Amino acid sequence: MIRLNNRTAVITGAARGIGKATAGLFLEAGAKVSIWDVDAAAAEETVQTFREAGHDIRFQQLDTTDFQSVAKAAEELINDWGRIDILINNAGITRDASLKKMSAAQWQMVIDVNLTGVFNCTKAVAPFMTEKGFGRILNAASVVGLYGNFGQGNYVATKSGVIGLTKVWARELGRKGVTVNAVSPGFIQTEMIETVPEGVINNLKQQTPLGRLGSVEEIAHAYLFLASDQASFITGTNLSVDGGLVL
Ligand code: NAI
Repeated sequence: MIRLNNRTAVITGAARGIGKATAGLFLEAGAKVSIWDVDAAAAEETVQTFREAGHDIRFQQLDTTDFQSVAKAAEELINDWGRIDILINNAGITRDASLKKMSAAQWQMVIDVNLTGVFNCTKAVAPFMTEKGFGRILNAASVVGLYGNFGQGNYVATKSGVIGLTKVWARELGRKGVTVNAVSPGFIQTEMIETVPEGVINNLKQQTPLGRLGSVEEIAHAYLFLASDQASFITGTNLSVDGGLVL
């Protein structure tokens, strides 16, 4: 069993979906968790559920696109916890449209959250990790960052970008004891997927060797492994968790 005893973890966008499932698994494995999310209502509910189960979890409301708030939240955690061992850059959004229809605002919003947000959180947290000589940074990429997807130019640009950033930061931070990896979920049953038409979903299932969508727990287990001591010699990689969609 993989344990995260005495580890502290920040998970962005963990009010719901994959991040919430990952928070739950990390808590069960013995970690302390802080959720960084914009959605206070959803996050408070998530925190309450986990607290009732006896877990050590907190919520810091912030928008990852705002560096000042992110830096302040990281400092608060250092004051309380003394260290941040794990950062999961999970918060992400979609604003899908084809090149012809995509507005500049749709383009910019996705770049801001999915790329600049990842930069802001890593920039704020990484110095505390290198100071301690230990860290695990995990970035949410996507299968579409590997093969592209009709109508997702903004989103795909960010997810391919995140895979590139993962390789850069792995090179920059490795000597300081910090590993940096990406996880590329395939199509996972979450609210994000609810906007996708049923015909498209059925088509995706047919293209997936395992013949189904993934669950949030299946992504959470990939994060757990990569965050663990057992993954100590893995850095700069992108782990596809997609039922074989991209082979
Ligand atoms: P979700 O939409 O269920 O949850 C995203 C969370 O991020 C929400 O709690 C939201 O409030 C938060 N958030 C959004 N913008 C934020 C900001 N600026 N600052 C702080 N928090 C913010 O998403 P889901 O489906 O759980 O996806 C999580 C990650 O996995 C995303 O990065 C997504 O791109 C990626 N992914 C998801 C797939 C899927 O099938 N659901 C497939 C591939 C990748």
